[in-house]
Amino acid sequence: MQLAVALAAARLGAMKHPKAALSALILPLPTEADTTALGARLASLARAGDCFLLEGPIGAGKSHLARAFIRARLGRDEDVPSPTFTLVQVYGNRDGEIWHADLYRLTHPDEVWELGLDDAFQSAITLVEWPDRLGGHAPQDALHLRLEAVGDGRRAVITGGRSDLRKALGDG
Ligand SMILES: Nc1ncnc2c1ncn2[C@@H]1O[C@H](COP(=O)(O)OP(=O)(O)OP(=O)(O)O)[C@@H](O)[C@H]1O
Ligand SMILES: [Mg+2]
Repeated sequence: MQLAVALAAARLGAMKHPKAALSALILPLPTEADTTALGARLASLARAGDCFLLEGPIGAGKSHLARAFIRARLGRDEDVPSPTFTLVQVYGNRDGEIWHADLYRLTHPDEVWELGLDDAFQSAITLVEWPDRLGGHAPQDALHLRLEAVGDGRRAVITGGRSDLRKALGDG
């Protein structure tokens, strides 16, 4: 009976997110240093136009991962404040811009236009905390990275994005 319920739930999930249900990559992150390492790894694989949707509850580690990503990509110990109030912080180097957004305080998805995020999705690397606030503005091909608590640590559940990027992450 329990198995039947689990199968039904899996099928329901597969119907809602067909790709996601088939290809979730799960990476254990027992310590904060593992989140830092994952941020740096993603930074080494990212290219202009890649969008990373950082999901998970308050305190999951989204900003920590974004900070590690930005520092690794820029190659310096940049000050990376959480964009809780500014909503967006933009960083740049020769390779192009990195947009770090925290949309927790977004009141309407159309504010995404005002922030210039629609254009940034095309040309920049974008890291978005609280991406559920995007409504229909989320890029179709974005990588979803959900941070979940596991004891005192975390795990990352990764779906979508470029398949070569997901494969590289899975290969370590
Ligand atoms: N793998 C991990 N194991 C244990 N602690 C972690 C791990 N990764 C990050 N943390 C810790 O989680 C805490 C919260 O991180 P952070 O501020 O990045 O969360 P957040 O998801 O951005 O929260 P908010 O939704 O409020 O913006 C930090 O103290 C960070 O060091
Ligand atoms: Mg945050």
